[in-house]
Amino acid sequence: MYNFEYKNPVKIIFGKETISKVADEIPKDAKVLLTYGGGSIKRTGVYDQVKNALKDFNLVEFGGIEPNPHYETCMKAIELVKAEEIDFLLAVGGGSVVDATKFIAAGALYENGDPWDFMEKRGIVNVEKALPLGAVLTLPATGSEMNGNAVVTKMATQEKKAFGSPFVLPQFSILDPECVFTLPDKQVANGVVDAFVHVFEQYLTFDVNSPLQDRWAEGILTTLIEEGPKVLSDRKDYQAAANFMWSATMALNGIIAVGVPQDWATHMIGHELTAYHGIDHARTLAIVLPGMMHIKRHNKKDKILQYGERIWGINAGTDDERIDAAIAKTVDFFESVGISTKLPDYDVPVDTIAKITSRFEKSGIKLGEKGDIDFKEVEEILKDRL
Ligand code: NZQ
Ligand code: ZN
Repeated sequence: MYNFEYKNPVKIIFGKETISKVADEIPKDAKVLLTYGGGSIKRTGVYDQVKNALKDFNLVEFGGIEPNPHYETCMKAIELVKAEEIDFLLAVGGGSVVDATKFIAAGALYENGDPWDFMEKRGIVNVEKALPLGAVLTLPATGSEMNGNAVVTKMATQEKKAFGSPFVLPQFSILDPECVFTLPDKQVANGVVDAFVHVFEQYLTFDVNSPLQDRWAEGILTTLIEEGPKVLSDRKDYQAAANFMWSATMALNGIIAVGVPQDWATHMIGHELTAYHGIDHARTLAIVLPGMMHIKRHNKKDKILQYGERIWGINAGTDDERIDAAIAKTVDFFESVGISTKLPDYDVPVDTIAKITSRFEKSGIKLGEKGDIDFKEVEEILKDRL
């Protein structure tokens, strides 16, 4: 196992009827900016619950944050934060709202240029401070509620990029599983698949003798496979919703990543598909991941075999047959929750592959846990999905 340091200070408040607790977590004298998305929180009643809890607070609102939040929108919010002298940010929504709020929190205090710089240097070197923020999470998927990462899209250049910084870790996140009750099937499926692939990025690499991390990862995968379909078939199943919600948080709060190699190539390629075609984040992962498993079957052999055996009970046949069966099971699972895994299903023109490949060629970035996926392999992975 590798050496590691781990600290996660995010306070999680989990369970039924917990949204009203938001009032206890924000300093009473703070001027708060409530950020939200396209209005789902108004339809679901979450907005009223938050407003009611914060009725004695000095509150300003900023709505209209898009799924795959736009840099251009975040910059408007940063202007508002400065003009209103906001000193606490409360994100109410899914990963997009939480991510945008992180960007706003750091961007509002950034004095050395354009906050898009965070994306160019991944944040870790150039985010030096941020306004405090908290979250009321309405969609289990990204883990943003308990990590320091954010992904933002610059519409002007069709670039979707991530940054990470401990300064944007939420002070607290409230997770009320009843928020799942109002999610459309599409968003439940997205959440299950996004969390599933987060586990893969930290698990399906190579063995460093970390049996505990492996079993945590396998525990999350198994739970998602069991609970995801229950949530899809009965949205009011509170226990299934709770287990789904906690699985998604645990998939990307850093705990399963300690001491092990990480991949993230599927995410990096997936982000390009969203940048060019607006495809939902999780769906891009469902497209790319089977190609990644296929093309990297030699590098990832031991872990794919372990995954196939422990998660799907695949223990007969040659290594290659078992790897093919593990890929097929993964595809079947994604398709069973209603997510297609092939590029043509999303009307992606073939020339998109060349556009994406050329971006990786120009940047010279190599992906994967061994840094050995160059633009040529990116092309192979995408061509596998035609
Ligand atoms: O915008 P509103 O009206 O709120 O509606 C949203 C949105 O249309 C709706 N929704 C949210 N909660 C709901 C609800 N509808 C009914 N009932 C509820 N309770 O769902 C739609 C999608 O919301 P969004 O926040 O975009 O989804 P998600 O949580 O999947 O976030 C996706 C974003 O997170 C990034 C993705 O790239 C993408 O931009 N990611 C962030 C990560 C992180 N910070 O660590 C890691 C992930 O890998 C991911 O990249
Ligand atoms: Zn993701």
